[in-house]
Amino acid sequence: MCGIIGYYGQHPASKILIDGLKRLEYRGYDSSGLCLVEDNKLVCYKQAGPVTYLEGAIAHQDLKGHIGIAHTRWATHGAPNEINAHPHFDCHHQIAIVHNGIIENYQALKQLLSSEGHVFTSETDSEVLAHLIEKFYTGSLEEAVIKALALIEGSYGLVALHVNENKLVAARRSSPLVIGIGQGETFIASDVPAILNHTKDVVYLEDGDLAIIDEGGYQIKNLAGEPLDRRVEEVKLNIDQIEKKGYKHFMLKEIFEQPQSLVNVLAGRITNNQIKLSLNWHREAIERIIIAACGTSWHSALIGKYLLEEIVGLPVEVDYASEFRYRHPLVNNHDLFIAISQSGETADTLAALREAKNHGAQSLGIVNVVGSTVAREVDSGIYLHAGPEIGVASTKAFTAQITALLLLAFYWRQEMGYKIDESILSELRHLPAVVEKTLKANGQVIELARRFMNFEHFLYLGRGLNFPVALEGALKLKEISYIHAEGYPAAEIKHGPIALIDDNMPVVVLATKNDLSDKILSNIQEIKARGGQVIAIVDQDYEVVKKLADYLISVPPVHVWFSPVINVIPLQLLAYYIADAKGLDVDKPRNLAKSVTVE
Ligand code: AGP
Repeated sequence: MCGIIGYYGQHPASKILIDGLKRLEYRGYDSSGLCLVEDNKLVCYKQAGPVTYLEGAIAHQDLKGHIGIAHTRWATHGAPNEINAHPHFDCHHQIAIVHNGIIENYQALKQLLSSEGHVFTSETDSEVLAHLIEKFYTGSLEEAVIKALALIEGSYGLVALHVNENKLVAARRSSPLVIGIGQGETFIASDVPAILNHTKDVVYLEDGDLAIIDEGGYQIKNLAGEPLDRRVEEVKLNIDQIEKKGYKHFMLKEIFEQPQSLVNVLAGRITNNQIKLSLNWHREAIERIIIAACGTSWHSALIGKYLLEEIVGLPVEVDYASEFRYRHPLVNNHDLFIAISQSGETADTLAALREAKNHGAQSLGIVNVVGSTVAREVDSGIYLHAGPEIGVASTKAFTAQITALLLLAFYWRQEMGYKIDESILSELRHLPAVVEKTLKANGQVIELARRFMNFEHFLYLGRGLNFPVALEGALKLKEISYIHAEGYPAAEIKHGPIALIDDNMPVVVLATKNDLSDKILSNIQEIKARGGQVIAIVDQDYEVVKKLADYLISVPPVHVWFSPVINVIPLQLLAYYIADAKGLDVDKPRNLAKSVTVE
């Protein structure tokens, strides 16, 4: 997810662009850049780091250009550095573009354009847009953009300019763009916060729209060049609400972003019933898998153990990264060490990775932040493309990590010569839609949150793949509502924790169908027999569970391998709504940081 802003008007553009980028940093903040049309040339600046670095770089420049574009980046392809920052240019530095989205066929386009003599300077997918527009440019930027977009597979929010044309040309497919209508000036941006200081009158572009912004204001057309009429709307929300898309907290926004973040994880990785990953590994040499991580990512690692052992058939060891790094692990070149880290900067995970590499292990990273230290130090990796996760409590990264582990397991099995069952691939493709359906049931969770918000202790129980999900549900509750909660393998309660059960200890039981469902029923009976209250997460019309549990949260049924992605959602929502009902700072819980870069 990136932030884009463009300006055409009677004022110097640079300050308007910088202020707009600052309002969009919640969409990405690893690098930024701007480009102005000034005296028939392009005047451009790019900086790695937050927008204030770009602001510093132009502070003493007398920038007069009244037409310009700017971009704050969340890297998906190519490290977050100056060369990969947007805007990107054609070979002759006459065309500049800023882009938000993922171009799935960029390698093929880059190959074609390079064979025609185009010279690329960045590692990004976005740069192909600038060279494609150049390829088709014969004097009309609008026409060249239309021809270029006809070859694009994937998503874009794009704004382009040409040094010889006093206009901006924009287009959207799956990545948002909004036009701001000012007095004698026009704005275009990824989101309203960037322009709200200037106007409340906006036009939201729709997929397939093209917008031309010039001294006459703006026109909207389709990609056949036919004029379109789009409604002008007045923005009602304030800036803070809009950055959160109207959600009260970033955490809630990120919980509800999960259908889209899973679409992004899968994008370009399932083609013609084949899983497509590019891993730099010696697969046949691997005899054992070691996964190390922290916190929520450690829960994903546990899920990865179940999936990889069952689907790939190799032994998997899972370790807290902080323990692995100090226990002098017996690791060798027949091990694949997998580091799972949303931030890619967690000190313990990084240290564990270096320890494993020092012992000769191959390494693979499952990381969200492109260009982060873990991502740069592994032999190969799978980026989540889940977009910035601002809330300290990890939600969309967790389900994205599990989906990445599923892709890895299926890809590995495919490389071993097996065909992945089409029904499984179909379920994988439809996972985002099932997540969407699961989120619709949040009303039943809000009611439970109100009922249980003042309890001081919770138990979370699950078996098999539901055990790590129980741990994750307990962690979510602990870290944002400050209520004590423990996750256990359900059968373990007989070995001690059942002594805790009474009606002051609600027990959340993951009771979705798997090969241990009958066992979980007896665990529920054991709890009920001791006066415990049971909140059961179920996926079938489980008559027997309905009779036993005090409260039910139902989720759509899926193949057991996909169940952690679905079953965790009510637990994320339960923790959120309890913490919100208690009036706590959900996005910035006490004592916690988003990335633990210290030991
Ligand atoms: C999870 O909600 C927490 N924010 C925390 O446990 C987190 O998962 C852990 O610090 C690991 O972070 P990483 O994925 O960035 O390495």
